[in-house]
Amino acid sequence: MPNKIAVIGGSGFYTMASANNAKALNPVNTPYGSVGGLIEYSMGGHNIVFLARHGGEHKLPPHKINYRANIYALKELGVSHIIAANAVGGIGERCGPGVLVIPDQLIDYTFGREGTFFDSFEDGMSHIDFTYPFEGRVRNALIQASAAFEKEFGSDKVVRNGVYACMQGPRLETAAEIKKLKNDGASLVGMTAMPEAALARELGIDYASICLVVNWAAGLSAGLITLEAINAELEGCVGKAEYLIGQSVNY
Ligand code: HPA
Repeated sequence: MPNKIAVIGGSGFYTMASANNAKALNPVNTPYGSVGGLIEYSMGGHNIVFLARHGGEHKLPPHKINYRANIYALKELGVSHIIAANAVGGIGERCGPGVLVIPDQLIDYTFGREGTFFDSFEDGMSHIDFTYPFEGRVRNALIQASAAFEKEFGSDKVVRNGVYACMQGPRLETAAEIKKLKNDGASLVGMTAMPEAALARELGIDYASICLVVNWAAGLSAGLITLEAINAELEGCVGKAEYLIGQSVNY
């Protein structure tokens, strides 16, 4: 992949442990607010800008993240390609805890989020095409890298397509909501891919996601969903996601 790539880390993913030459970047001022906590790494001869989506100490819940400032800041830094990591609950049969999914579609169920850079059509009408929300070079690179990933972790640990349902949160879903999402065709449920993916498309940034499945979605396993179990699963998933990212920059 070309320079400059950004990695947006989600829950439990606050730094790139396997990358070198970490350099803290100055906060970037944008019309939507200032973005701090940016780190630049070098990885396989590439510059990687890392942004912790929730802030360095996970202070921002999904509905309070300043998605516009984040994406605008990355554009300001010259980022052309984004690999996003998103923790999710699994709905699809193959999408159980510990699996990475490279989704190809999404459905947006969020509300009230600032979701566009085009709040006015004064400079002309703008409706981005979003038929294939994750399509592009980054997704292709992740798919290619998944071959090496399979050898390392097993072929049941990566799924190369999926429909991401983006919910408002921060609460988890009811069992009935998950049934409905399944009927809608969703295989994953999370809270952070939107409006992030659309904003990247609006600024012409190639964006794809690695979904880290950290629990079965509500009602799909016995018992309730606990944060302890999610956090325990996250750790292993983050290591796997870092491996996939490390491989993907070669394509
Ligand atoms: N639902 C929504 N978002 C999530 C979940 C879930 O079950 N797990 C991790 N993020």
